[in-house]
Amino acid sequence: MKIFIETYGCQMNSYDSTAIIGILENAGHSIVKLPKDADAVLINTCSVRDHAEHKILSRIGSLRIKQRRANRPKQIIGICGCMAERLGKKLHEVSHRPDLIAGVDQYDQLPQLLENAVSGNVKVNVATGHMDDVHYVAPVEAYPVNNSHLVTIHKGCDYKCTYCIVPSTRGPQREKSPLMILDEIKNIVDQGGREVTLLGQNVTAYSAPGMNFAKLVQQVSKIKNLDRIRFLTSHPCDIDDELIDTIAELDSVCPWLHIPAQSGSDRVLKRMKRYYKVADYMRIIEQARKKIPDVTFSGDFIVGFPGETDEDFRQTVQLMRDVRYDQAFCFKYSERPGTPACKMTDDVPIEIKKERLAELLDVQEEVWQNITKDAVGEIWSVVVEGEARHSENSVKARSANNRKVIVDGTESQPGDLISVQITGSNGSSFLGKIVSAATMKGTADVNI
Ligand code: 5AD
Ligand code: SF4
Repeated sequence: MKIFIETYGCQMNSYDSTAIIGILENAGHSIVKLPKDADAVLINTCSVRDHAEHKILSRIGSLRIKQRRANRPKQIIGICGCMAERLGKKLHEVSHRPDLIAGVDQYDQLPQLLENAVSGNVKVNVATGHMDDVHYVAPVEAYPVNNSHLVTIHKGCDYKCTYCIVPSTRGPQREKSPLMILDEIKNIVDQGGREVTLLGQNVTAYSAPGMNFAKLVQQVSKIKNLDRIRFLTSHPCDIDDELIDTIAELDSVCPWLHIPAQSGSDRVLKRMKRYYKVADYMRIIEQARKKIPDVTFSGDFIVGFPGETDEDFRQTVQLMRDVRYDQAFCFKYSERPGTPACKMTDDVPIEIKKERLAELLDVQEEVWQNITKDAVGEIWSVVVEGEARHSENSVKARSANNRKVIVDGTESQPGDLISVQITGSNGSSFLGKIVSAATMKGTADVNI
């Protein structure tokens, strides 16, 4: 069959979609680039907020309408990922009923599920449930052509932050073995990859016999010809001195930390069951700033969590200013069925949630403008990732500390390491002009 895969949500889903490509190609299917050319459309879904799920339900509806208009009644629609896991056979009851449902640990079943969908012989064409021993390995050759290869190092999460659906959709934390991870990365490097991003709901909690996350990173850094190692997501409770020292000491480990804070109020953090206080969070930021040259931070925030007062929110704004994130992903609290926060009264009206979100985004924009102003004139080492969209003769590139730069007037190729002088910014990217070839870690070569 010809299969089209559409991916929503986090990088874990992007990785899984690549693994799905491998599973389907092994079973003799092929991947196509447009839904109109496909015998089956698979949608890899996200459940983290209500809005994400609504988007997918309406996407199924619009695909069904297109099928009808184009007279493709036999085209199969399959739902994979977190929403499939969360809703399982209940998805059969939605108005534009999908033909198959595959939860996050069930992609090996996809060839069979597709066969069932074609024959129509199976009434409840669903596979869900968590498995300990299934760890996907995305085939390198199926990976989208760019510089960073995602490598999932574990699945699930053992934290139970009260707002979060992930522990139920993705299950408990289960590790890919260090051997399997190292083999996977060696294979990527053998096929020309130079950069990996270690992925997990909480990579910093990685734990295998004799191995924590810092030690895993140290092992990965020994792989020859692997130039850059990134990772996400981190939990503040699991970032220790050993990890900070590892990032500081090893050239190939990129100086960028994505550390969701969620709130700047101890009271709210306690209700979220995040197990740290704002002072603990700031200590990590300060330690990292002290020890890791050119380190940058990104983070996540939730506004309007049940019980969040205006004073709590002021503290979140303050934290955002204090940290000076390069990037902050901010969300309105969304009640997720079955989570502990569901039992709390959601007493922050939607209008207030919207106002707080808008204010937080404004503050982040101000922080970002200041960061970009300070950067003008600096010379950074960046790796070219591809052509820039919308402008000819320019490329998009990335610094070790995860800053995107659009570089004008160059024919540099993906993978090239170049020096650029920062001239300004545009949206979430810096703008730069080429200076010469460069060497990496951090950003600033010279400050002129
Ligand atoms: N409502 C709003 N945002 C949420 N996130 C997780 N669960 C929810 C929810 N119920 C956010 C957190 C997390 C990011 C991936 O999504 O900030 O870090
Ligand atoms: Fe969800 Fe918390 Fe686990 Fe992150 S650490 S996936 S927010 S439960």
